[in-house]
Amino acid sequence: MNRPASPRLARRMSYIRPFHVMDLLARARHMESQGRCVIHMEVGEPDFPTPQPIVDAGMAALRDGHTHYTPAAGLPRLREAIAGHYHQRFGLDIDPNRVMVTPGSSGAIQLVMDVLVDVGDKVLLPDPGYPCNRHFVRLAEGTPVALDVTAENAYQPSVEQVVNGWDDACRMLMVATPSNPTGTCLSQAQMRQLSDAVVARDGVLVVDEIYQGLVYAGEEFSALALAESPIVINSFSKFFGMTGWRLGWAVAPLEVVEAMDRLAQNIFLAPSTPAQHAALAAFSPETAEILAQRREAFAERRDFLLEALQQLGFRFPARPAGAFYLYADSGAITDDSFAFAQRLLDEAGVAVTPGLDFGDNQPQRHIRFAYTNTIEKLEQGVERIARFIAR
Ligand SMILES: Cc1ncc(COP(=O)(O)O)c(C=O)c1O
Repeated sequence: MNRPASPRLARRMSYIRPFHVMDLLARARHMESQGRCVIHMEVGEPDFPTPQPIVDAGMAALRDGHTHYTPAAGLPRLREAIAGHYHQRFGLDIDPNRVMVTPGSSGAIQLVMDVLVDVGDKVLLPDPGYPCNRHFVRLAEGTPVALDVTAENAYQPSVEQVVNGWDDACRMLMVATPSNPTGTCLSQAQMRQLSDAVVARDGVLVVDEIYQGLVYAGEEFSALALAESPIVINSFSKFFGMTGWRLGWAVAPLEVVEAMDRLAQNIFLAPSTPAQHAALAAFSPETAEILAQRREAFAERRDFLLEALQQLGFRFPARPAGAFYLYADSGAITDDSFAFAQRLLDEAGVAVTPGLDFGDNQPQRHIRFAYTNTIEKLEQGVERIARFIAR
């Protein structure tokens, strides 16, 4: 077969690391194609389908011919609906013009980095954390700086870390609550302290709230309630169950939204039109009822899996309160979580994500378990892990 020579890749590609879990997932799929049953605890998206009222609205949009571009910042009605959601959930009055609708929250993170980070600017990021963020910083030609977070501070950056890590080149701190991979949250007081420290240094705080709605302990808040409102990232992917529709948003000061809008006109043109029409149904009472039931199911799964894994010897020094992840200290069981995950898949048919995918802070002694699977499957998974460890 004719195979043309590949052109040299841009140097920046040397910074972009793949997701190791993708290799595991490919192996798991291959095993399944050979007839083996694999229990999935690695998948970072809800196992539930998109709620029916959202699907119906999407299909109606297609039937009604809503297949043309929208404004780059999103349908005005959707921006208003998102602002209304903050009012209804948190009593916050957000100007809809501060809402920028994007292709997934990934689009929002890319735009935020591109419009705010200059060449060489440092961005502080928790490690472990969502691995794509450091790549977005790199693509904006900034420098990601890892803050090694600890279980003592719920795997979230402490004010001391931010203050000590800050220098003249620092521009931004980005945090996520609940966090991927740890499922841990920042308290309102911690968020305020981080914001004060960043604002006092003329920096920008970016808060990723993409797992908002999936918190199983304590009262939820939005960082938009802070007096000095940070930039907030959110998405229809996780709580609303719309990962494949590719729709998210950012809430930012008007000048930043204007810049993101200008850039989005050039990069994306607009978020998906049918997806935006579908998302208008995401805030309806019918959808809310479905999502509340799913949240209960996630809470039940978390309680089950946390207890079961602890009995097997995994440790959770910081209680995971949200998202759909448990970040286990596996040090008592293995000193190489990557090899453990590979063998667990090959020999026991259970897929999990080793710490390696989330940074360089003790990855070899951590494993992320996702409870994006039914209780029955999770039970089977736990039994298999127990037998594998006992060998
Ligand atoms: C913390 C966090 N932020 C952002 C994203 C990006 O999600 P999406 O682009 O689907 O909104 C993810 C996806 O897993 C995530 O875990």
